[in-house]
Amino acid sequence: MPAQDQKARLEQLRAELREHNYRYHVLDSPIISDPEFDKLLAELRAIEDEHPEWITPDSPSQRAGAQLSERFSKVQHPGPILSLANAFDPDDLRAWHARVARLDARVEEAEFVVEPKLDGLSIVLHYRDGLFVQGATRGNGEVGEDVTANLRTLRALPLRIPVTADGPAAPPYLVVRGEVFFTKKDFEALNRQRGAAGEELYQTARNTAAGTLRNLDPSVTAARSLTLLVYNVVTSEGEIPATQWETLEFLRTLGFPVSKESFLCPDIECVADQYDPWIEKRNTLHYEIDGLVVKINDLGLSDALGIVGKDPRGSIAMKFPAIEVTTQLLDIGVNVGRTGVLTPFAMLEPVEIGGVIVRQATLHNFDFIAEKDIRVGDRVLVKRAGDVIPYVIGPILAARSSKEKPYQPPAKCPVCGQPVEHIEGEVAWYCVNAACPEQLVRNVEHFVSRSTLDIVGLGIKIVETFIAEGLIEDVADLYILERDQLLALEGFKDKKVDNLLASIETSKSRSLGQLIYALGIRGVGEVVGADLATNFADLDALSSSKVEDLEQIEGIGPNIAEAIVDWFQRPRNQAVLKKLKKAGMWPKSDLSTAQQVGQGALAGLTFVVTGTLPTFSRKEAQDFIRANGGKVTGSVSTSTDYLVAGEKAGSKLAKAESLGVPVIDEAALKALGR
Ligand code: IVH
Repeated sequence: MPAQDQKARLEQLRAELREHNYRYHVLDSPIISDPEFDKLLAELRAIEDEHPEWITPDSPSQRAGAQLSERFSKVQHPGPILSLANAFDPDDLRAWHARVARLDARVEEAEFVVEPKLDGLSIVLHYRDGLFVQGATRGNGEVGEDVTANLRTLRALPLRIPVTADGPAAPPYLVVRGEVFFTKKDFEALNRQRGAAGEELYQTARNTAAGTLRNLDPSVTAARSLTLLVYNVVTSEGEIPATQWETLEFLRTLGFPVSKESFLCPDIECVADQYDPWIEKRNTLHYEIDGLVVKINDLGLSDALGIVGKDPRGSIAMKFPAIEVTTQLLDIGVNVGRTGVLTPFAMLEPVEIGGVIVRQATLHNFDFIAEKDIRVGDRVLVKRAGDVIPYVIGPILAARSSKEKPYQPPAKCPVCGQPVEHIEGEVAWYCVNAACPEQLVRNVEHFVSRSTLDIVGLGIKIVETFIAEGLIEDVADLYILERDQLLALEGFKDKKVDNLLASIETSKSRSLGQLIYALGIRGVGEVVGADLATNFADLDALSSSKVEDLEQIEGIGPNIAEAIVDWFQRPRNQAVLKKLKKAGMWPKSDLSTAQQVGQGALAGLTFVVTGTLPTFSRKEAQDFIRANGGKVTGSVSTSTDYLVAGEKAGSKLAKAESLGVPVIDEAALKALGR
């Protein structure tokens, strides 16, 4: 393509990507899929690779910033970044209104903008001639930290305003304020990912958002989906609206993400009336809020009222009732999970939190109890956030007498009495006795659940009965259950027994990936299970794999690799496998037949695929290799035969070159495969 056409295509791609970003993150109505977006971005990157001189800081390709070398530098804010005074109920709100009305009678007639009080991290964004040039945390309100590189990775943050062609012209200099946070869904997903990888879970979305935004490596920020809503103009050169309501609209038309939940009230009673309905409504929002912010709409009037300490008189936060309460910690119990993880929980003096009676709360792990020095008998602070399981925040030290008892984690499993073990680099303690009855119940529950082998009719009560009656000692025993044995149990009639046996039989047709996931190996979830199934022919092949082989697979790190090898080495698990095989529960892999029989043009060769290929997606290239009998691994080593590299190949290319591994392109791969 001639340079001129390429330049035009580049501009077009940038405009399209900006539009799609805006539609996705601000309007919430995307018109293309994520893969389609990625394809456009890859095309833009390819052009910019060829012409680095065309790269501009506002290009949608420039979101993943370079690593910061030092601690963050300091940023002097253009004016004080204020906080808010709190009201805790409608009467407090009316009292505030009366106070400010005494200072300025115009308040009697004032309108109010009511906005959700986002439970995140305050940030200040600077735009010069429409370009995002700097972003800072609030810090102490006068000086914040420069987190520009991290903020750039937030897809909701406009790198250039106005985002759309029909937006108003951006003022020459504009500083806005907003809040960075995780949506409830993204925070839960992040924790699910960590759980599956055997990592400690994050406790609060707000602190995690702060840690993520202040991470020294922007690629960590980029990998997590922080988002942003903007609500104030801090300062500007050029004209800005005179009211808060118009400010929100102005920010919206410039292309900033602005909450859709804000509303305008003609008087203070309208605001007061919204308090109770919003206590309910907060649970339906996709992000956490801890109250409403009430702002006098007339910004001139609001400014004229001045400041008390760090709080402007013209706005107030109306906080929701605490979902944190204190109660007494009566005792500490310990649960045994499916993989043997021991989890301590608090047994509490029953207490109401946000309309629900709470008797138990999680204590996370034993390190947490030690760090917070939580003692049995303590008064503790307990929190319930949305749908999340209640958790203990810590002890109220001021309420301590001398009667509380320090807690010692159990040296033995509370259920089976076998010694517990600690795995290096993890916080969890494990009961490693796979015959532990509690673990067995959880194991079978997982084995038959809808997301694994989907054996219907096997609820937890039935599983407990089977174990108590000695019918099953492990999951494989499900496959040798006999009709007469079941009919002898109370409540088991012909039809129920037939249905259950049929359902167990059907499970034999599930895929190898589902079975691997069902086995309950630590760190092996649905995705890793499926990945393993495309790399090993069956459970025999997987059981003889070594840590080094497993680590070659993309997405499997040393911890999971070791957990897998360890699982297959245990005699008890080997016995389970033997029984499963004998029962005919032995699915073959999703490997191509060519690969299983060691045939095909690529048989015996190991490939790594990297970068953007001209026609194949990464997955298509990998499927092509496997269909031709070749093997695909995730990282380049001396046992790699070829690196298939496309555009933007990066570190894998450098590694291949340093090890002397031949590098080929997509065309050469296709030629080899034929
Ligand atoms: S206005 C002078 N609006 O709440 C203006 N703040 O408790 C002060 N916050 O530090 C801020 N949502 O981080 C404003 N819609 C909203 C907000 C909001 C959340 C935070 C902000 C502030 C804190 C005060």
